[in-house]
Amino acid sequence: MKKLVSAAVVSAELLNPSYLLLTVDTGENIEVFSGQFAMLSAPDVFLRRPFSVHDADGAVLSFLIKIAGPGTRGLAGLKTGAKISLLYPLGNGFRPSNKKAVLVGGGCGSAPLLLLAKQLKNRPVIVLGGRTKDDILRQEIFARHAELRIATEDGSLGVRGLITEELKNLSTEHIVYACGPEPMLKSLHKLADEKKFELQVSLESVMACGVGACLGCVTNTRKAGHVCVCATGPVFAAEDLPW
Ligand SMILES: Cc1cc2nc3c(=O)[nH]c(=O)nc-3n(C[C@H](O)[C@H](O)[C@H](O)COP(=O)(O)OP(=O)(O)OC[C@H]3O[C@@H](n4cnc5c(N)ncnc54)[C@H](O)[C@@H]3O)c2cc1C
Ligand code: FES
Repeated sequence: MKKLVSAAVVSAELLNPSYLLLTVDTGENIEVFSGQFAMLSAPDVFLRRPFSVHDADGAVLSFLIKIAGPGTRGLAGLKTGAKISLLYPLGNGFRPSNKKAVLVGGGCGSAPLLLLAKQLKNRPVIVLGGRTKDDILRQEIFARHAELRIATEDGSLGVRGLITEELKNLSTEHIVYACGPEPMLKSLHKLADEKKFELQVSLESVMACGVGACLGCVTNTRKAGHVCVCATGPVFAAEDLPW
C-alpha cells in the first residue's frame, strides 16, 4: 500500500563527491520489496524524483544516490532532522526464483541490489561495475550479504573491463537481476540470449508522478504493448523488452 509521508532525515552522507547515502525515518512500518522505489521531494525543485529503496529497516529507509542535477544536489544538502515528503513503495520489484541468483549493478544501479541480496533465501553472487573505483559503492556492506565481485573499466578496483566479463560462465541454472545504464542492460540481454539464463532488469525513465497518471514514462513491451515503467515496472523480464 503506497503512502505519502513526511519523513525526517536521519543522515545525508556523501560517500564521495558524486554519491550520497540518504537515510530517512518515515515513521511508518510499510513492507518494501526489493526493486520498488520512492518519489522524493527535493528542496527547490518542482517535481519529486524517483529513487530505488537501497535498504529498509522498519520505518528507516536508505537511498544510494548519484548527484546528477538540482534535485540530487538539494538532497545532498539536507541536514539531519529536515523533513522531506516521500511517496512509497512504488512499482513492482524483482521477482524471486529458485535459480542461482547473480546480481549485477552498474554504478548507482547497485542501489536496489542490497535489499534484494538481503531478501533472497540463498546468498547470491553480486557483481558491481563502474568506470573507476569511485563508482563502486558500499562494498563492505554488499560483501556481508553476497559473494562480491568487482569490475572497473580503468582497472582501479577489481578486474579490469566491463561487468559482462564476469558473467561468461552463466547458464540456464542462473537468474540475473540487473540495474544500471541502458547499454549495460542491453549487452546483458544479448548475453542472456546466448547463454540462456533468465534476466530481470530494472529500467530507468524520467518520471513525473511515479503512479501511472502522467504517462511520462511509457516503454514498449512484447506482451502488453506500451506500459508505464513506474506502474508495470520498473523491473521487467528482459525477454519482454523489444530491444
Ligand atoms: C525507478 C527509478 C529508480 C531510480 N533509482 C535511482 C537510485 O537509486 N539512485 C540514483 O542515483 N538514481 C536513481 N534514479 C535516477 C534518478 O531519479 C535521477 O538521477 C534524478 O531524478 C535526477 O534528478 P536531478 O534533479 O538531480 O537531475 P535532473 O536535472 O533531473 O537530471 C540530471 C541528468 O540526469 C538525467 N536524468 C534525470 N532523471 C533520469 C532518470 N530517471 N533516468 C535517467 N536519467 C535521468 C537527465 O536527463 C539529466 O541529464 C532512478 C530513476 C528511476 C526511474
Ligand atoms: S511517471 Fe507518471 S506515469 Fe509513470
